[in-house]
Amino acid sequence: MAWKTKPSGSFEIPRRDTPWITESMATEIREKIMPRYEKSMGSIMPSLHAIQHEHGYIAYQAMIELATLLGLKPADILDTASFYEEFHLEPVGKCVIGICQSVACEMCGHQALVDYVRNRLDIEPHETTDDGKFTLLTLECLGACDTAPCALVNDDRFDNLTLEQLGRILDGEQITS
Ligand code: FES
Repeated sequence: MAWKTKPSGSFEIPRRDTPWITESMATEIREKIMPRYEKSMGSIMPSLHAIQHEHGYIAYQAMIELATLLGLKPADILDTASFYEEFHLEPVGKCVIGICQSVACEMCGHQALVDYVRNRLDIEPHETTDDGKFTLLTLECLGACDTAPCALVNDDRFDNLTLEQLGRILDGEQITS
């Protein structure tokens, strides 16, 4: 496997005038999230969830704003946001399909599921379709190894996922997990 490098030193953070953390979000973080934790570090995860829930992803500027709010370093926020796959650091599609690639799912046909989505949508894992409808992710263990293969479709976990079900999801059908 080739190492991927990123140009951290020369990376320009896209900025906009409107804050990502609105006044009401800041109030919620200050009054509802922060008091639950002894240290500010404890507030990072729930605050990131709040930001992603509001915007669909977590912009770098939002991480800087959160760091200021929590009295932490931006690197503390980036470390957390970039460690967990559930956090999106770039805009994603309306429907995010995250197929588990850990060992149980790998043994039970995860590759066929990934290939099916790749071929139908013409995207690779961690890419989004041009129309913004779908993002394909590969994820680590979803904690349901006994019902492999599994995938997360937005917030719903699908166990024993079949190609037929996946096809219906891509057709836009509302199917239950
Ligand atoms: S390996 Fe896929 S859910 Fe555990």
